[in-house]
Amino acid sequence: MAPSTNKYYQLDPEAWKLLEESIFYYQGKPVGTVAAHDPELDALNYDQCFFRDFVSSALVFLMEGKPEIVRNFLVETLKMQSHEKYMDCFEPGEGLMPASFKVVHDGDEEVLVADFGEHAIARVPPIDSCMWWLILLRAYEKATGDVELARQPDFQAGIKLILDLCLVHRFSMYPTMLVPDGAFMIDRRMGVYEHPLEIQVLFYASMIAARELLLPEGNGEEYINKVNSRLGALKYHVRNYYWIDFQRLSEIYRYKGEEFGKEVANKFNIYAEAIPHWLTEWLPENGGYLAGNLGPGRMDFRFFALGNLMAILSSLASEAESQSIMNLFAHRWEDLIGQMPVKICYPALEGEEWRMITGCDPKNRAWSYHNGGNWPVLLWLFAAAAEKTGRVELAQQAIAVAKQRLIQDKYPEYYDGKNGRLIGKEARLYQTWSIAGLIAAKQFIDHPDHLKLITFDEISDSPGCRL
Ligand code: GLC
Repeated sequence: MAPSTNKYYQLDPEAWKLLEESIFYYQGKPVGTVAAHDPELDALNYDQCFFRDFVSSALVFLMEGKPEIVRNFLVETLKMQSHEKYMDCFEPGEGLMPASFKVVHDGDEEVLVADFGEHAIARVPPIDSCMWWLILLRAYEKATGDVELARQPDFQAGIKLILDLCLVHRFSMYPTMLVPDGAFMIDRRMGVYEHPLEIQVLFYASMIAARELLLPEGNGEEYINKVNSRLGALKYHVRNYYWIDFQRLSEIYRYKGEEFGKEVANKFNIYAEAIPHWLTEWLPENGGYLAGNLGPGRMDFRFFALGNLMAILSSLASEAESQSIMNLFAHRWEDLIGQMPVKICYPALEGEEWRMITGCDPKNRAWSYHNGGNWPVLLWLFAAAAEKTGRVELAQQAIAVAKQRLIQDKYPEYYDGKNGRLIGKEARLYQTWSIAGLIAAKQFIDHPDHLKLITFDEISDSPGCRL
């Protein structure tokens, strides 16, 4: 692509140059960005374009007035959507979007090759890909005003196929989505199976996006109705049962167990003994957050940044809750931002818990990688959430913390240690979403009107909610 003449390019030519170098082409057209460009490490699958990684780059391109690559990405990846596949006893459900893809040269021919998780370490299913795809399609429409793309019949069919996959009846009692471990950014065993917050929030935002993008013609209205009723139930469920603040904690502390019937306080049979010791001291009076997971007899009290920040952006968290989440960041700055924004989850699993829950995963030792590492990509979500809640000073502080080090350290993938002081043990350098995350964060702060690409208004309570 032609180098940008825009203000950001002038301000941050190095970051822009790196971002542009990460772009790859298919039949002469830019279609995606590689995950990392580390000259010192074997690429493994980091030479591929991951859907979730591309979101940061795509937002930057959209904000810069360069939507072509995002459009090409949406068009080409739609063609990859799973219809019927069977690979090595691995069968991605119809509608699933791949985790990543790359261009392979077969003689003179170029072929796009997708990975649905059948090559991924531990064969994890990329459930978040189809959700990010919908969110990105909506962002593209908001940025360009081009409503025609999503209205094309193949796009309408693709949206419906995703909804078929996400809304199918499963053996689950809740409106949340039941998923296996490692189904999103944390794509390793980390005790994030069942109903992890991040998937629920992405599910919520992507359903709102689908509702905006679907035409009522044909059976579109039917899909819109189904989405409406699920959205209402999901919002009710997450707001009522995932939320933790001091008052809620006090209630859980005095819960009775073994309650049977409809009108009970302790619906999920959570025992007070399950409240971790760190939490009672850690939670400030004016702070709160959405729990990491909720299932039968199980509340994961860990704080997960992406789910909470995206809950603010999608208005799944109420305005008051959003303020409380930002208060928590302000109050626990050292823990959640530290020397490199943002801590992916807090606290880390240690000792026996680490052994049991991660299966002794050395890459996910305490305070490393997914297990309490700090990830620069999360900076754009933090900046956008701070801007949305009127807490711009927090975003500015976080950007100031990140900027100098990121450039100096060559944009690592993640940082280690309780406060994120060390470059991640196995982190790649020149990680594209770390580069794009910093540029996007600055863009959101300087041009708050761009927030519309990734924020959602509060939905009205749906009459379809049957809870
Ligand atoms: C790691 C991360 C995953 C990311 C991929 C490429 O596997 O866990 O979230 O998409 O690297 O950067």
